[in-house]
Amino acid sequence: MTVTVGIDRLGFYTPQLYLDMTALALARGEDPAKYHVGIGQDKQAVIPPTQDVVTMAANAATQILTPADLADVKMVLFGTESGIDNSKATAVYLAHLLGLAPDTRAVELKQACYGATAGLQLAADYVRARPAAKVLVIGADIARYGLRTAGEVTQGGGAVAMLVTADPQIFALDPISTYHTADVMDFWRPLDRTEALVDGKYSTNVYLDFFKETWTAYQHQTGRTIADFAAMVFHLPFTKMGRKGLRQVLPEATAAHQQELTAAFEASQLDNRNVGNLYTGSLYLSLLSLLRHGALRAGDRLGCFSYGSGAEGEFYSGTVQPDYRRGFDDAALTAMLTNRRAVSVAEYESIFQQQLPNDGRDVQLPVGTDTAPFYLAGRQHQQRQYRRR
Ligand code: HMG
Repeated sequence: MTVTVGIDRLGFYTPQLYLDMTALALARGEDPAKYHVGIGQDKQAVIPPTQDVVTMAANAATQILTPADLADVKMVLFGTESGIDNSKATAVYLAHLLGLAPDTRAVELKQACYGATAGLQLAADYVRARPAAKVLVIGADIARYGLRTAGEVTQGGGAVAMLVTADPQIFALDPISTYHTADVMDFWRPLDRTEALVDGKYSTNVYLDFFKETWTAYQHQTGRTIADFAAMVFHLPFTKMGRKGLRQVLPEATAAHQQELTAAFEASQLDNRNVGNLYTGSLYLSLLSLLRHGALRAGDRLGCFSYGSGAEGEFYSGTVQPDYRRGFDDAALTAMLTNRRAVSVAEYESIFQQQLPNDGRDVQLPVGTDTAPFYLAGRQHQQRQYRRR
């Protein structure tokens, strides 16, 4: 008997602060239309020092885990490229903070923005083999390029948490996906750096090449065409990037279908416009945005393109399930995004510099203004001090 597996629940967390892209454009001497239209970003998450990928993942995961799940989740796969330790996995900290049972497997996965997709596909294979299992998959990152760089407008951050189970409520994965790997220097972050190095224009071309490669291979392997899809969902480092991807396949669709695909794309980029890049989580925030704002019907097939610089691409698909709206808390997500506070460019620049110093000394962070359930209180004896409210 074939087991249906996929995403049963979806949670998303981004901190309480954001920077308006008009303010950033004016401060950098750019036309605001370049950021809003040319890049396609309106707001950018600003990550306070009291949040890192572990706390953001915990704040996302706690939205979707019931007390029963705490005993049932037996594996945590944490996709991130903003790790906090060269040895110990973020997943181990997370499993402890959430109170998961000790007989849980917990590991971190890294391949730039692709890590969460690796986690999702490994989790799906695991659940196909053990239908009673539940796997927690995380995509959490802080996208940092540096002040006054071309990449600055494409920063952001946050965490997506997905519960992967049999008979999922939200999205059932099709078993065939296609992937492509090549050793490419389009974006990377050497161990001594906190900001990414990037060959920006080249990276956008590699992204589009990988999309073409995996989409073509997918069509050959499945016999499906664009006519089989209600929407294409993209990794969105900035929303214009997905728009360029969509433009590659629109000519394959009828005029009426082009309108549907375009409307679905508009829905899928709404939340990303207001958060920015969250690297591993960006494709999944876009999926959540489509589920929240799109006009989807049960059985609709969605195509998903995942891209991680360096580079790895994967195209996979799945179908929307009848009760998909029960798999996430739409009102709470809207409230989280609308209740954020705008910071000035000066405040953003100051927060940007407030990273834990790399000399190992003890630090106490100003936790008073951070109201998230999980936060970072500081560092003592070279150990991060995580707290739960
Ligand atoms: P740039 O050089 O500042 O921008 O860098 P530009 O000059 O190319 O302009 C951007 C767009 O704005 C252009 O449109 C302009 O025409 C338009 P396009 O030709 O692309 O359609 N424009 C305007 N539009 C309206 N009104 C105006 C105006 N002026 C210009 N007045 C770049 C842009 C994306 C390269 C830069 O921000 C960057 O380096 N970002 C970081 C790299 C990135 O996000 N790459 C994406 C692909 S790689 C990826 O997705 C992986 C990643 O997530 C990391 C990972 O895997 O871990 C990044």
